[in-house]
Amino acid sequence: MLKKMDFDEKQSFGFGGNAMIAKVSRFSWSPFLFLITLIALLSFQITTKTIYPMKIAFSSTSKTGVSADARTSCVGFFGELPERKAVMSIREFGGVGDGKTSNTETFRKAIRYLQRFGESGGAQLNVPKGRWVTGSFNLTSNFTLFLEEGAVILGSQDPKEWPIIEPLPSYGRGRERLGGRHISLVHGDGLTNVVITGNNGTIDGQGKMWWELWWNRTLEHTRGHLVELMNSNNILIANLTFCNAPFWTIHPVYCSNVVVKDMTILAPLKAPNTDGIDPDSSTNVCIEDCYIESGDDLVAVKSGWDQYGIKMARPSSNIVVRRVSGTTPTCSGVGIGSEMSGGIFNITIEDLHVWDSAAGVRIKTDNGRGGYIANITISNVTMERVKVPIRFSRGSNDHPDEGWDPKAVPVVKGISIRNVISFNSTKAPVLEGVEDAPFGGICMKNVSLLGVVSSLSWHCEFVSGFADEVFPTPCPQLQSNISSSWCSYSWASSVNLN
Ligand SMILES: *[C@@H]1O[C@H](CO)[C@@H](O)[C@H](O)[C@H]1NC(C)=O
Ligand SMILES: *[C@@H]1O[C@H](CO)[C@@H](O)[C@H](O)[C@H]1NC(C)=O
Ligand SMILES: *[C@@H]1O[C@H](CO)[C@@H](O)[C@H](O)[C@H]1NC(C)=O
Ligand SMILES: *[C@@H]1O[C@H](CO)[C@@H](O)[C@H](O)[C@H]1NC(C)=O
Ligand SMILES: *[C@@H]1O[C@H](CO)[C@@H](O)[C@H](O)[C@H]1NC(C)=O
Ligand SMILES: *[C@@H]1O[C@H](CO)[C@@H](O)[C@H](O)[C@H]1NC(C)=O
Ligand SMILES: *[C@@H]1O[C@H](CO)[C@@H](O)[C@H](O)[C@H]1NC(C)=O
Ligand SMILES: *[C@@H]1O[C@H](CO)[C@@H](O)[C@H](O)[C@H]1NC(C)=O
Ligand SMILES: *[C@@H]1O[C@H](CO)[C@@H](O)[C@H](O)[C@H]1NC(C)=O
Ligand SMILES: *[C@@H]1O[C@H](CO)[C@@H](O)[C@H](O)[C@H]1NC(C)=O
Ligand SMILES: *[C@@H]1O[C@H](CO)[C@@H](O)[C@H](O)[C@H]1NC(C)=O
Repeated sequence: MLKKMDFDEKQSFGFGGNAMIAKVSRFSWSPFLFLITLIALLSFQITTKTIYPMKIAFSSTSKTGVSADARTSCVGFFGELPERKAVMSIREFGGVGDGKTSNTETFRKAIRYLQRFGESGGAQLNVPKGRWVTGSFNLTSNFTLFLEEGAVILGSQDPKEWPIIEPLPSYGRGRERLGGRHISLVHGDGLTNVVITGNNGTIDGQGKMWWELWWNRTLEHTRGHLVELMNSNNILIANLTFCNAPFWTIHPVYCSNVVVKDMTILAPLKAPNTDGIDPDSSTNVCIEDCYIESGDDLVAVKSGWDQYGIKMARPSSNIVVRRVSGTTPTCSGVGIGSEMSGGIFNITIEDLHVWDSAAGVRIKTDNGRGGYIANITISNVTMERVKVPIRFSRGSNDHPDEGWDPKAVPVVKGISIRNVISFNSTKAPVLEGVEDAPFGGICMKNVSLLGVVSSLSWHCEFVSGFADEVFPTPCPQLQSNISSSWCSYSWASSVNLN
């Protein structure tokens, strides 16, 4: 059973902390760092109490044996895999898996019915082998959507089956078009304890129609995501294949305690904005063992857009991205931003494998964003044929409306990048900070970028930091004469830099 109290504790702690951070960051950094230390101490006390039972839960449910258990894992982010009292099949509600019949009303009816078990042991909806066409439907709390082997949920080709909902408050409008946005195919708002899993069944958004609307400029409202959960906590998405999302594939926004694990995410490499996984203004998120190939970032951490994101001040924090591999020819393996106005901190990215992509690791911001990106730790990255292995950029002039504040400069501080090997890269890193707010505390150690034409040197502007064992020779901005000791936990001590 879920240790409900544990999550409630974390949840309220998280909110308090975030709100404080958001306020303080507008003034100066030193009280912020003091607070962080305080929070770190507090959270240590909380987690020592809570993690232990979860650890037992996870290893006892794993059937993959010793080798899998020996690896670090999302332990501590989600409770044990919950058993549900009521288990029913979509067939029992009259569903037809013939690839033609619309099951929209059937899914909605099934979940409305199963909702009643939320307070009494939870419910699971099984989707058997077959091709189940459906429009958007909403999940419920204490609920598992289980796709059996050979089960394929197909997104409806009728845009009306993806109704328009309110824009996110941290974006102020749809990401692509003004006003409301199409709801995601699988949606949830204000939920707790939701699992989407199965024996590698598939959710196929059939996004081609939407990409064409985008390409031919006839899209009226922002495209829907494949799966979006808002204001929810305790979420597990595992062991499935998601493909052909109209827009981003998995979008947890204003969520906490989210695990995305053992997923295959596919979209044609040209499909526009088909990001893999985008944690957005969310905290305690663990993404691991995912294979992603798509037309945009494999993973992108975000937190709202310009004045709307600044106002909402909901950071993305405590996020782990581990053992993700894949390719995206025009975008990056892991992106931070460009929407980061609510702040992004304490992000760990490790064991990343990226090939045939435009960038490996990319930090993107813009003037008007405000917010901050801090304490990002990236290690053990392998790249093959990645054009620009490491890229920091600003200024694509991409704003929600004219109301953005030119004085709201983003703060980028404490980025540690170590143990990186890149084969057959074509360019040296491009590190472009913001003129009014240079990126500080950039630490690179044991970074080898092979294949870069030697005449092409690093391009650095408005950045400062430290580099050790880095090839080719980094720009002078990364050669400040300081101890490398802060590199290990860059941000916590980056205050010493100024
Ligand atoms: C995913 O599949 C593996 C292997 O079949 C299994 O051990 C694990 O429990 C599954 N995880 C979930 C969350 O269903
Ligand atoms: C979910 O289950 C928990 C534990 O049984 C219960 O306390 C809670 O009220 C349920 N939530 C909903 C929305 O049904
Ligand atoms: C699903 O939830 C959204 C709000 O999150 C709501 O606007 C929409 O009407 C719901 N759809 C259904 C079919 O209940
Ligand atoms: C799940 O299915 C996808 C698509 O068919 C496949 O590429 C992947 O290897 C499968 N994953 C597992 C664990 O079998
Ligand atoms: C744009 O694409 C949509 C979806 O494929 C199609 O229905 C529509 O006819 C296209 N419009 C134009 C002007 O090409
Ligand atoms: C940073 O995030 C990790 C999870 O990635 C978490 O275990 C740790 O407690 C967080 N640190 C702080 C100071 O909150
Ligand atoms: C900074 O990141 C490191 C490594 O992920 C983590 O252990 C530490 O708790 C983070 N500190 C803060 C203040 O978030
Ligand atoms: C580095 O990452 C790769 C996956 O990209 C993994 O196979 C390897 O074990 C990792 N190495 C270390 C030392 O963790
Ligand atoms: C340097 O990084 C490479 C690539 O990740 C790794 O194989 C190697 O062990 C690292 N060396 C040290 C001394 O950590
Ligand atoms: C790098 O390029 C060389 C020369 O074209 C080729 O032989 C080698 O296989 C490539 N390596 C990778 C990892 O792509
Ligand atoms: C860096 O600091 C060390 C010790 O403080 C000093 O000996 C050395 O000359 C300095 N190097 C540069 C390039 O300033």
